Amino acid sequence: MRTLDDLLADGVAGRTVLVRSDLNVPLDYSDASARITDDGRIRASVPTISELSAEGAQVIVTAHLGRPKNGPEEKYSLAPVAGRLGELLGAPVRLVQLADGAPSLAAGDVVLLENIRFDPRETSKDDAERGALADELVGLTGSDGAFVSDGFGVVHRKQASVYDVATRLPAYLGGLVRAEVDVLRRLTEDPARPYVVVLGGSKVSDKLAVIEALLPKVDSLLVGGGMCFTFLAAQGHSVGDSLLEADQVENCARLLESGKIVLPSDVVVADDFSASANTRTVPATEIPDGWKGLDIGPESVAAFAGVLAGAKTIFWNGPMGVFELAPFAEGTRGVAQAVVDATEKGGNSAFSVVGGGDSAAAVRALGLPEDGFSHISTGGGASLEYLEGKELPGLAVLDE
Ligand code: 3PG
Ligand code: MG
Repeated sequence: MRTLDDLLADGVAGRTVLVRSDLNVPLDYSDASARITDDGRIRASVPTISELSAEGAQVIVTAHLGRPKNGPEEKYSLAPVAGRLGELLGAPVRLVQLADGAPSLAAGDVVLLENIRFDPRETSKDDAERGALADELVGLTGSDGAFVSDGFGVVHRKQASVYDVATRLPAYLGGLVRAEVDVLRRLTEDPARPYVVVLGGSKVSDKLAVIEALLPKVDSLLVGGGMCFTFLAAQGHSVGDSLLEADQVENCARLLESGKIVLPSDVVVADDFSASANTRTVPATEIPDGWKGLDIGPESVAAFAGVLAGAKTIFWNGPMGVFELAPFAEGTRGVAQAVVDATEKGGNSAFSVVGGGDSAAAVRALGLPEDGFSHISTGGGASLEYLEGKELPGLAVLDE
């Protein structure tokens, strides 16, 4: 694969370079204008963009926000992201519209194209439709353009701005994607043992494939979050009103036969899904009727921490509970802290990776030190699919 360094060595001064970044950040809409609640993905995207700009390229960044279904919609505008990107680059970033055609640019200028998913061709299953949009994107770069794939969080998507443009322009692997892939390779090729994976999040069905792929490779798989209740049900326990995927109970029972899955021994239950609910901590085997489990309990955190303390490789994806609500944040905070404590930087020996946009945002929201982990990935779905052994279209296309 040709990389950003190869492109810079060829020279970019005066050329227009299209950069696909993943700037899909969480926004809070409770004020008059949307506020970015976690700018991690924007910060991670800055180095590639600023290197190109510093070398005199005219940079057009393309990105998506959310999953707009019906064309342009104010709440999915990248306008707040353009503002933040400009602050971080130290030079204003104009938000431009695809319909306006090639923007006028001077050497070093950076513009951001409005949410590419406002155009339904971006996510079309039809090659010709995506191709037509890719042709328009290529048209913005003139005769000597290049494409840099730097949106790690979307490399698992076969979409026009990720995949199809790479077949039409000289295409290069960006520094962010390169760093992410190097880390994930370290997890898949001969990881130092014990290799411990922590998975959370609400649905087993979303994680089934990655659990199947990981079980033969890991020493322990610690399960928290909403999905632990389907595993507890598979052990024959009543889970009250907790999240339960009844159609996955059999799958969970089969996965438990591996003997590598560790479930919480206690859970924080509530009589309502709210920060003001009544709560109790109960054994995971004794969840009362009418109550729902919304976090793992302190005994589970201690047990998980014990396993993590001996690990040499750790991958963590998905919160342990509803961390957005204060009464249910301690499980996620405790496990995240245990990962930090086990990490080599803290004087211990584990190489630790936080996989995913949401888990990464949780780390920062809970006030954990970002540099306490070996690596915080910008891509959740993408890193899970990589670990699952799937081919990622946005990477495969750069190999061709
Ligand atoms: C993400 O947030 O996981 C990435 O930006 C990809 O977004 P998507 O799941 O909507 O394709
Ligand atoms: Mg996502």
